[in-house]
Amino acid sequence: MAQLTAPTTPPSAAPTPDVSRLAGRSRTLEVAVLLSSVRPGRLAPTVGAWFTDQAAGRDDLRLTLVDPASTPLDHPGADPADPGVAVARADLGERLAAADAFIVITPEYNHSYPAALKHILDSYRREWFAKPVGFVSYGGMSGGLRAVEHLRGVFAELHSVGVRDGVSLHGVQAADFAAGGRVAADPQVAVAARALLDQLAWWGRALRDAREIEPYAA
Ligand SMILES: Cc1cc2nc3c(=O)[nH]c(=O)nc-3n(C[C@H](O)[C@H](O)[C@H](O)COP(=O)(O)O)c2cc1C
Repeated sequence: MAQLTAPTTPPSAAPTPDVSRLAGRSRTLEVAVLLSSVRPGRLAPTVGAWFTDQAAGRDDLRLTLVDPASTPLDHPGADPADPGVAVARADLGERLAAADAFIVITPEYNHSYPAALKHILDSYRREWFAKPVGFVSYGGMSGGLRAVEHLRGVFAELHSVGVRDGVSLHGVQAADFAAGGRVAADPQVAVAARALLDQLAWWGRALRDAREIEPYAA
Protein backbone atom coordinates (compact mmCIF):
# COMPACT_ATOMS: atom_id res chain seq x y z
CA MET A 1 0.00 0.00 0.00
CA ALA A 2 1.38 3.36 -0.91
CA GLN A 3 2.36 5.54 1.97
CA LEU A 4 2.42 9.27 2.04
CA THR A 5 5.83 10.48 3.09
CA ALA A 6 7.00 13.97 3.80
CA PRO A 7 9.12 15.33 0.96
CA THR A 8 12.81 15.46 1.80
CA THR A 9 13.10 18.93 0.26
CA PRO A 10 10.48 21.63 0.59
CA PRO A 11 8.65 22.47 -2.61
CA SER A 12 10.42 25.27 -4.38
CA ALA A 13 8.76 28.63 -4.14
CA ALA A 14 7.72 30.45 -7.29
CA PRO A 15 10.84 32.05 -8.75
CA THR A 16 11.24 35.71 -8.00
CA PRO A 17 12.18 37.59 -11.16
CA ASP A 18 15.52 39.31 -10.85
CA VAL A 19 14.71 42.78 -12.06
CA SER A 20 17.79 44.38 -10.56
CA ARG A 21 19.65 43.98 -13.86
CA LEU A 22 17.01 45.84 -15.75
CA ALA A 23 18.13 49.43 -15.57
CA GLY A 24 14.90 50.69 -17.08
CA ARG A 25 12.61 49.08 -14.53
CA SER A 26 12.18 52.20 -12.44
CA ARG A 27 12.13 54.73 -15.27
CA THR A 28 8.79 56.18 -16.28
CA LEU A 29 7.50 54.87 -19.60
CA GLU A 30 6.64 57.52 -22.15
CA VAL A 31 3.28 56.69 -23.73
CA ALA A 32 2.05 58.57 -26.80
CA VAL A 33 -1.75 58.53 -26.93
CA LEU A 34 -2.88 58.93 -30.54
CA LEU A 35 -6.27 60.29 -31.39
CA SER A 36 -7.50 59.23 -34.81
CA SER A 37 -10.39 61.39 -36.02
CA VAL A 38 -10.23 64.99 -37.20
CA ARG A 39 -13.81 65.86 -38.17
CA PRO A 40 -15.48 68.96 -36.62
CA GLY A 41 -17.51 68.00 -33.57
CA ARG A 42 -15.64 64.74 -33.07
CA LEU A 43 -15.79 62.82 -29.82
CA ALA A 44 -12.09 61.95 -29.92
CA PRO A 45 -10.78 64.65 -27.49
CA THR A 46 -13.41 63.63 -24.91
CA VAL A 47 -12.41 59.98 -25.11
CA GLY A 48 -8.74 60.95 -25.03
CA ALA A 49 -9.12 63.10 -21.91
CA TRP A 50 -11.13 60.39 -20.18
CA PHE A 51 -8.56 57.71 -20.95
CA THR A 52 -5.63 59.89 -19.92
CA ASP A 53 -7.37 60.37 -16.57
CA GLN A 54 -7.39 56.58 -16.12
CA ALA A 55 -3.62 56.72 -15.76
CA ALA A 56 -3.63 59.58 -13.26
CA GLY A 57 -1.74 58.60 -10.13
CA ARG A 58 0.42 56.01 -11.91
CA ASP A 59 4.07 56.87 -11.60
CA ASP A 60 5.17 54.17 -14.06
CA LEU A 61 3.55 55.82 -17.10
CA ARG A 62 3.53 59.33 -18.55
CA LEU A 63 0.77 59.78 -21.15
CA THR A 64 0.98 62.52 -23.79
CA LEU A 65 -1.74 63.18 -26.36
CA VAL A 66 -0.97 63.28 -30.08
CA ASP A 67 -3.85 64.88 -31.96
CA PRO A 68 -3.83 64.64 -35.76
CA ALA A 69 -6.12 67.67 -35.91
CA SER A 70 -3.40 69.88 -34.46
CA THR A 71 -0.56 68.08 -36.23
CA PRO A 72 -0.71 69.33 -39.81
CA LEU A 73 1.08 66.56 -41.63
CA ASP A 74 1.34 66.67 -45.36
CA HIS A 75 -1.67 65.30 -47.13
CA PRO A 76 -0.90 62.63 -49.73
CA GLY A 77 0.59 64.34 -52.74
CA ALA A 78 1.73 67.48 -50.88
CA ASP A 79 5.11 68.94 -51.75
CA PRO A 80 7.56 67.36 -49.31
CA ALA A 81 9.87 70.34 -49.90
CA ASP A 82 7.33 72.67 -48.24
CA PRO A 83 9.14 73.81 -45.05
CA GLY A 84 5.92 73.79 -42.98
CA VAL A 85 5.27 70.19 -43.90
CA ALA A 86 8.84 69.19 -43.13
CA VAL A 87 8.77 70.86 -39.71
CA ALA A 88 5.46 69.24 -38.73
CA ARG A 89 6.64 65.87 -39.92
CA ALA A 90 9.96 66.09 -38.08
CA ASP A 91 8.27 67.29 -34.90
CA LEU A 92 5.80 64.42 -34.80
CA GLY A 93 8.57 61.98 -35.72
CA GLU A 94 10.57 63.09 -32.69
CA ARG A 95 7.55 62.65 -30.42
CA LEU A 96 6.86 59.17 -31.72
CA ALA A 97 10.52 58.18 -31.53
CA ALA A 98 10.66 59.31 -27.88
CA ALA A 99 7.66 57.16 -26.98
CA ASP A 100 8.20 53.74 -25.37
CA ALA A 101 4.62 52.66 -26.05
CA PHE A 102 1.47 53.77 -27.83
CA ILE A 103 -2.22 53.92 -27.10
CA VAL A 104 -4.44 54.36 -30.14
CA ILE A 105 -7.86 55.84 -29.49
CA THR A 106 -9.98 55.16 -32.53
CA PRO A 107 -13.59 55.35 -33.61
CA GLU A 108 -15.00 53.03 -36.23
CA TYR A 109 -15.56 54.60 -39.65
CA ASN A 110 -17.21 52.28 -42.19
CA HIS A 111 -15.96 49.17 -40.40
CA SER A 112 -12.41 50.44 -40.13
CA TYR A 113 -10.43 53.35 -38.65
CA PRO A 114 -10.11 56.96 -39.86
CA ALA A 115 -7.86 57.95 -42.73
CA ALA A 116 -6.05 60.56 -40.59
CA LEU A 117 -4.68 57.76 -38.42
CA LYS A 118 -3.60 55.71 -41.43
CA HIS A 119 -1.75 58.70 -42.78
CA ILE A 120 0.19 59.05 -39.53
CA LEU A 121 0.96 55.33 -39.44
CA ASP A 122 2.20 55.35 -43.03
CA SER A 123 4.28 58.52 -42.56
CA TYR A 124 6.73 56.88 -40.14
CA ARG A 125 8.49 53.57 -39.89
CA ARG A 126 11.23 52.90 -37.37
CA GLU A 127 9.39 55.12 -34.85
CA TRP A 128 6.89 52.25 -34.37
CA PHE A 129 9.38 49.39 -34.28
CA ALA A 130 9.58 47.03 -31.29
CA LYS A 131 7.10 48.98 -29.17
CA PRO A 132 3.75 47.91 -27.74
CA VAL A 133 0.43 49.41 -28.76
CA GLY A 134 -2.87 49.26 -26.92
CA PHE A 135 -6.29 50.07 -28.32
CA VAL A 136 -9.21 52.10 -27.01
CA SER A 137 -12.09 52.04 -29.46
CA TYR A 138 -15.52 53.54 -29.73
CA GLY A 139 -18.35 53.62 -32.22
CA GLY A 140 -21.80 52.12 -32.73
CA MET A 141 -22.85 48.66 -31.58
CA SER A 142 -19.46 47.13 -32.36
CA GLY A 143 -17.63 49.53 -30.04
CA GLY A 144 -15.00 50.09 -32.72
CA LEU A 145 -13.75 46.50 -32.57
CA ARG A 146 -13.62 46.12 -36.35
CA ALA A 147 -11.36 49.16 -36.52
CA VAL A 148 -9.09 47.56 -33.92
CA GLU A 149 -8.89 44.26 -35.80
CA HIS A 150 -7.72 46.14 -38.90
CA LEU A 151 -5.18 48.06 -36.86
CA ARG A 152 -3.67 44.91 -35.37
CA GLY A 153 -2.57 43.80 -38.82
CA VAL A 154 -1.19 47.21 -39.70
CA PHE A 155 0.84 47.43 -36.49
CA ALA A 156 2.21 43.93 -37.03
CA GLU A 157 3.58 45.14 -40.35
CA LEU A 158 5.14 48.06 -38.46
CA HIS A 159 6.94 45.66 -36.08
CA SER A 160 4.81 46.75 -33.12
CA VAL A 161 3.29 44.45 -30.52
CA GLY A 162 -0.46 44.76 -30.04
CA VAL A 163 -1.41 44.06 -26.43
CA ARG A 164 -4.27 41.64 -25.96
CA ASP A 165 -6.70 43.53 -23.76
CA GLY A 166 -8.34 46.74 -24.81
CA VAL A 167 -11.19 49.07 -24.04
CA SER A 168 -14.23 49.06 -26.32
CA LEU A 169 -17.02 51.60 -25.85
CA HIS A 170 -20.21 51.17 -27.82
CA GLY A 171 -22.76 53.82 -28.65
CA VAL A 172 -21.05 56.50 -26.60
CA GLN A 173 -21.71 60.23 -26.49
CA ALA A 174 -19.93 63.09 -24.73
CA ALA A 175 -22.30 62.98 -21.74
CA ASP A 176 -21.24 59.38 -21.03
CA PHE A 177 -17.77 60.61 -20.05
CA ALA A 178 -18.92 63.37 -17.68
CA ALA A 179 -19.02 62.74 -13.93
CA GLY A 180 -21.65 60.09 -13.25
CA GLY A 181 -22.01 59.29 -16.96
CA ARG A 182 -22.35 55.76 -18.35
CA VAL A 183 -18.64 55.34 -19.03
CA ALA A 184 -17.26 57.42 -16.18
CA ALA A 185 -19.33 55.58 -13.58
CA ASP A 186 -18.86 52.03 -14.89
CA PRO A 187 -16.37 50.12 -12.73
CA GLN A 188 -15.98 47.45 -15.44
CA VAL A 189 -14.67 50.04 -17.86
CA ALA A 190 -12.16 51.26 -15.29
CA VAL A 191 -11.03 47.65 -14.74
CA ALA A 192 -10.57 47.19 -18.50
CA ALA A 193 -8.56 50.40 -18.73
CA ARG A 194 -6.32 49.28 -15.87
CA ALA A 195 -5.74 45.88 -17.47
CA LEU A 196 -4.79 47.55 -20.74
CA LEU A 197 -2.37 49.93 -19.02
CA ASP A 198 -0.83 47.12 -16.96
CA GLN A 199 -0.19 45.01 -20.07
CA LEU A 200 1.14 48.01 -21.97
CA ALA A 201 3.50 48.80 -19.09
CA TRP A 202 4.83 45.22 -18.97
CA TRP A 203 5.49 45.13 -22.69
CA GLY A 204 6.80 48.68 -22.66
CA ARG A 205 9.41 47.88 -20.02
CA ALA A 206 10.34 44.56 -21.60
CA LEU A 207 10.78 46.00 -25.08
CA ARG A 208 12.60 49.12 -23.88
CA ASP A 209 15.10 46.93 -22.04
CA ALA A 210 15.43 44.70 -25.08
CA ARG A 211 16.02 47.63 -27.45
CA GLU A 212 18.68 49.02 -25.12
CA ILE A 213 20.47 45.68 -24.86
CA GLU A 214 20.28 45.04 -28.58
CA PRO A 215 18.94 47.56 -31.11
CA TYR A 216 16.01 46.13 -33.05
CA ALA A 217 17.15 45.12 -36.50
CA ALA A 218 14.65 45.02 -39.33
C1 LIG B 1 -17.92 58.51 -41.70
C2 LIG B 1 -18.42 57.73 -40.51
C3 LIG B 1 -18.55 56.36 -40.60
C4 LIG B 1 -18.99 55.63 -39.50
N1 LIG B 1 -19.05 54.26 -39.61
C5 LIG B 1 -19.35 53.54 -38.50
C6 LIG B 1 -19.29 52.12 -38.55
O1 LIG B 1 -18.99 51.52 -39.55
N2 LIG B 1 -19.58 51.42 -37.42
C7 LIG B 1 -19.92 52.06 -36.26
O2 LIG B 1 -20.16 51.39 -35.28
N3 LIG B 1 -19.97 53.40 -36.18
C8 LIG B 1 -19.70 54.16 -37.27
N4 LIG B 1 -19.73 55.52 -37.20
C9 LIG B 1 -20.04 56.15 -35.92
C10 LIG B 1 -18.77 56.62 -35.24
O3 LIG B 1 -17.97 55.54 -34.85
C11 LIG B 1 -19.09 57.47 -34.02
O4 LIG B 1 -19.94 58.54 -34.44
C12 LIG B 1 -17.84 58.04 -33.39
O5 LIG B 1 -18.21 58.83 -32.29
C13 LIG B 1 -17.05 58.86 -34.37
O6 LIG B 1 -15.85 59.29 -33.79
P1 LIG B 1 -15.46 60.84 -33.80
O7 LIG B 1 -16.62 61.55 -33.14
O8 LIG B 1 -14.21 60.97 -32.98
O9 LIG B 1 -15.29 61.24 -35.23
C14 LIG B 1 -19.32 56.29 -38.29
C15 LIG B 1 -19.22 57.68 -38.24
C16 LIG B 1 -18.77 58.40 -39.32
C17 LIG B 1 -18.61 59.90 -39.19
